[in-house]
Amino acid sequence: MEKLVITGKTPLKGTVEISGMKNAAVAIIPATLLINGICTIENLPNISDVKLYCNILKELGAVITWKNEHEVTIDSRNINCYQAPLDVTRKFRASYYLIGALLGRCKKAIVGLPGGCNLGPRPIDQHIKGFEALGATVEATQGNISAQAKKLKGNSIYMDIASVGATINIILASVLAEGTTIIDNAAKEPHIVDIANFLNTMGADIRGAGTDVIKINGVKELTGNATYSVVPDQIEAGTFMLAAVASRGDIIIKNCITKHLEPVIAKVIEIGGHVDANGDHLRVWCKKRPEKANIKTLPYPGFPTDLQSQMGVVLSIADGTSIINETIWESRFQYTVELNKMGAKIISQGKSAVFEGVPELTGAPVYATDLRAGAALIIAGIIANGTTEIYNLNHIDRGYENIEEKFKNLGAKITRVEE
Ligand code: EPU
Repeated sequence: MEKLVITGKTPLKGTVEISGMKNAAVAIIPATLLINGICTIENLPNISDVKLYCNILKELGAVITWKNEHEVTIDSRNINCYQAPLDVTRKFRASYYLIGALLGRCKKAIVGLPGGCNLGPRPIDQHIKGFEALGATVEATQGNISAQAKKLKGNSIYMDIASVGATINIILASVLAEGTTIIDNAAKEPHIVDIANFLNTMGADIRGAGTDVIKINGVKELTGNATYSVVPDQIEAGTFMLAAVASRGDIIIKNCITKHLEPVIAKVIEIGGHVDANGDHLRVWCKKRPEKANIKTLPYPGFPTDLQSQMGVVLSIADGTSIINETIWESRFQYTVELNKMGAKIISQGKSAVFEGVPELTGAPVYATDLRAGAALIIAGIIANGTTEIYNLNHIDRGYENIEEKFKNLGAKITRVEE
């Protein structure tokens, strides 16, 4: 078993380069199934979720050629199977994009349903509602979801919840459908725009991505023969911003889109940090103990749930008492139990948590309960007195490229150790 060993307290200093966005990459890779041709994807993050997805595509008949660890060519001309490897897809949450992509390409899809999630229940009723509106029959049986249609026909779909996954899945299923699909109350996250840009580059006709009404005019074929570069990961950038603030550091973050970080920048300034944003890079620094603040997670452009736990670390050492309300996921405060082992004073109940700021954290053995919780614990280890050991690294490796190298380059004393 591997663990990260971190010796704190280190103010972070230096420059970090942000990788391509995980949540865009895990949508773009299955989207290549819709292309009757070859495409090249650049700026892919080198993370385990991306490799896993490429292996799934290989099993479906795609030819995958890695040019380097961030660039892959995918030839989807000979997709010969509509059933995804069920055991793998059951363990892998973003596998639900295979339903929309295979349905769009083959008019049939069988995918293992992702099981219970450690963020709380993760229903896909809005995805199913969209597929059915396009003319598909959808069934969930024996841990699998199967969808099929004689033909897919565009329709108007009002989403009860502005779900990121459902918005993308309906786009995937409707790109090759007959006629026009309109998604109302669509999610507006940056990766929705990225997937639409990717598909449009490959020959699709999608308009309005990034607003709450998206219009998809079905096309006969996506021909590909183009290259696309994945958008930078705003959650990774936000993670480093909050690490800089928590550690009273001063860092430059390169290859990010500062517009995507506006809700985080506003909060960093509110708690006493400083940000100098310049379009594709920013400097963030903080010279004193952070001030208290209240946070409510919201869909984009609100404060992102995927930075809630990293912000929780900052507030755990803030001057005063802060409250976080988590409105997206039911069980996203599991990391607070781990932070309390390090001396934090956090009481969480349901979707709210109260953070009574303490002057400092103390190193302890802790467990990453999910991907973002893992990132939060790394920040906690960097600012804590003494040594912190972090276990369950598989969560972190799913979504952060070279995280310990990047923190090491900023001065953190962090090593990966085989136990
Ligand atoms: N929801 C439903 N029904 C649905 C779909 C969603 O009730 O059919 C609910 C969910 O239970 C949740 C809310 O709607 O309460 C939002 O869910 P959404 O569908 O937007 O989330 P997702 O697509 O499953 C993506 C990211 C998550 C991120 C959320 C919110 C990917 C692969 N995952 O999940 O990322 O937290 O959007 O922004 O894009 C992470 O990266 O750590 C992560 C968990």
